[in-house]
Amino acid sequence: MSDECASIRASCNQELQQAANENDLYQIKSKYLGRSSRLTALIKSLKDLPAEERARSGAAANALKISLQQDIDIALENMRQARTVRAIAEQAPDITLPGRRTAIGTLHPVTRITAKIASIFTSMGFSIVDGPEIELDFFNFEALNIPKDHPARDMHDTFYVSDAQLLRTHTSPVQIRTMQKMQPPLRILCPGKVYRCDSDISHTPMFHQIEGLMVDTHVSFADLKGLLTILIHRLFGDISIRFRPSYFPFTEPSAEVDIQCVMCRGMGCRVCSGTGWLEILGCGLVNPVVFKNAGYDPDAVTGLAFGLGVERIAMLTYGINDIRLFYENDLRFLSQF
Ligand code: PHE
Repeated sequence: MSDECASIRASCNQELQQAANENDLYQIKSKYLGRSSRLTALIKSLKDLPAEERARSGAAANALKISLQQDIDIALENMRQARTVRAIAEQAPDITLPGRRTAIGTLHPVTRITAKIASIFTSMGFSIVDGPEIELDFFNFEALNIPKDHPARDMHDTFYVSDAQLLRTHTSPVQIRTMQKMQPPLRILCPGKVYRCDSDISHTPMFHQIEGLMVDTHVSFADLKGLLTILIHRLFGDISIRFRPSYFPFTEPSAEVDIQCVMCRGMGCRVCSGTGWLEILGCGLVNPVVFKNAGYDPDAVTGLAFGLGVERIAMLTYGINDIRLFYENDLRFLSQF
């Protein structure tokens, strides 16, 4: 009897050790504890034993049954836990995989050129200021010596907000606002958005200008030429520059500045309409009328002012032939800068 118990015990232990999965364990369970198991047969045979031995063997058989049950249950539980651990490991992210790259943006060409020009002028003592894009007619025109009936208004293709308010057509109104706030001497640079009702290959309804203003007791045209020559040479290298007489109501004398065509080096091409020159900015000495309008004494100070279009400089710098590309938000275009 006890031999049979030991044999069952040993054989079950051995099978438990070899079990590879839960299914194996269920089979072991039915083989050793089921109705046709050796143990069940053994328990059935107890009734034939003499009473004394029956009690002893019965106790031993019961103890074996309980212990087999426990061992199989523990093995099952271990197997289930191992399965859970495996499942978690399979779901866990594979940290050895290379990560997905975050796309890093680039600076817009207009931003790049603005920053470059700003740094050229701040290195010469200019401070950066700004002003409102919705502007009063007074600052955009009137104070700049462009009264209501002045023909220069026609050139501005103004978006009006109301009779007295408009989207500024240039950054020059910031000259007046600054002079109203600050006493001379001053050197300021004002980059910003301006608006004109115009749209084609070289015009967008919104574009960027940079305004410069310097006021002191003896500012001369030579200072203007010097500053703008430094600017152009830092932007485009050592190229030819010419100052061409022009007219702006707020400067006197006034000039437009041309640079040697950067595409054909002055030979004449489509970009410069065969002239070899490209106009890049307007400038002049501040008209005394403007000083008076802004509250400065025109006999005590002189000044220089200039205004340039940022998109135009960016187009020439990067060889871009259509201004609208700046505002179409095509990443294939924008990511080149
Ligand atoms: N405001 C002028 C324009 O938009 C440019 C300019 C600025 C000219 C300052 C002279 C002086 O065309």
